[in-house]
Amino acid sequence: MITEKFVIQGGYPLKGDIFVSGAKNSAVAILPAVLLLDVPCTIENIPDINDVKICMKILKGLGAEIRLLNQKTGKYFVSCGRVTDYYVPYEEAKTMRASYYFLGALLGRCHKARAAMPGGCPLGERPIDQHLKAFELLGAKSTLSGSRRDIVELSAEILTGTVITMDVVSVGATMNAILASVKAKGTTIIENAAKEPHIVDLANFLNYMGAQIQGAGTDTIKIKGVRRLAGNAGEGSTVDYCYSVVPDQIEAGTFMVAAAATRGDVFIHGVIPKHLEAITAKLRDIGVTVEELNDEEAVHVFVEPGKVLHASNIRTEPYPGFPTDMQPQMAVLLTLADDASVITENIWEDRFRYVKELRKMGAKIDITQNGAIVHGNSHLTGTEVNACDLRAGAAMIIAGLIAEGETTITDIFHVERGYSDIVGKLSGTGAKIKKI
Ligand code: EPU
Repeated sequence: MITEKFVIQGGYPLKGDIFVSGAKNSAVAILPAVLLLDVPCTIENIPDINDVKICMKILKGLGAEIRLLNQKTGKYFVSCGRVTDYYVPYEEAKTMRASYYFLGALLGRCHKARAAMPGGCPLGERPIDQHLKAFELLGAKSTLSGSRRDIVELSAEILTGTVITMDVVSVGATMNAILASVKAKGTTIIENAAKEPHIVDLANFLNYMGAQIQGAGTDTIKIKGVRRLAGNAGEGSTVDYCYSVVPDQIEAGTFMVAAAATRGDVFIHGVIPKHLEAITAKLRDIGVTVEELNDEEAVHVFVEPGKVLHASNIRTEPYPGFPTDMQPQMAVLLTLADDASVITENIWEDRFRYVKELRKMGAKIDITQNGAIVHGNSHLTGTEVNACDLRAGAAMIIAGLIAEGETTITDIFHVERGYSDIVGKLSGTGAKIKKI
């Protein structure tokens, strides 16, 4: 087996321009959503990452036609006209968390769906009870089958709009409730919905194709079921619709922290600064300068010469709070602060596996009951560390960029699941990083 690694020579401040790709967590929901359309469509700004490749493999396996139209803009033609299957292969479902969106999309399309319980980053228990609750409230029956009882089977004679009150704020369950109800009979109301930009993006895509979804981005979403999703130019139209996926706010945030930690000066382009507010506010609190260039869809991140970085406490929360997916990267920055910072993790119970790796580099971090204390004034030294999950891998890269000497990162497949050309993008701003 070939094992690929990142090798980084630390100590070079990032300087220059970085362009952010489309959002992973939008693309992996919008692609399955094409199953609900009655016409083909084109989508652009789809990121070139492994989770998207798996999504496309599943779609093609179901019978979809997918063609790359423009590599540079990530533009694809997708048609699900010939899909008759509703079974997601076991291996593919297990490889990625977002495979659960095929459950909602297939249920909405053909009132049947079958997929293994989803895989994804090892972040502790990742239940899907709220997804199943939403499907059942809409009228589906769900059963678990297979020798490990890990295959979810759904079937419904008819899906009928209803009120779905989520017990927890869940991105995936909110998206799945939208997918399953967009063509249901009557009106569905999702209460206590998640508000992440990717929820709004999925709703915008579906509305663009003729759905009637209101309130995405607030905690109450109202979905009036429609019979057909044939585009907003009218039923049966053959117009070539093109939808553009929103920029990835976590990729942008990762580069913002990398710029700050290396005391660099970077313009990060192709972003929606509003989506970055929680990250921007935290960076400013630490002493990093962040300029929002709304007209240019960019942020400018730098640290003034001689500026001391300050400790700052972090609590992860659903959007618009501070994102859990930025917590490991921010922890690396906090190792450089003038004092100790407290991190409280409220979303994933096992999000601190990266701490063991950072300690190997000299970071001083204590694990607490639901968080960590990051002691500042650390001096990181390069060594071999592991990318335990996607965002832990991003944190290791930032640590490698600031460490003295050489850092080698293993298990980089985690990083490549969610970051498009991270080596090329960082190298373009002066980082000494290569994949071997
Ligand atoms: N939860 C339940 N029951 C459910 C669903 C969720 O109890 O049925 C709990 C979870 O255990 C967790 C909380 O609710 O404590 C929030 O989970 P959520 O459902 O929002 O997470 P997710 O949809 O599985 C998405 C992202 C994650 C990101 C979280 C939180 C995708 C494909 N994944 O996961 O992204 O951490 O939202 O923002 O959209 C990543 O990109 O690295 C990543 C892990």
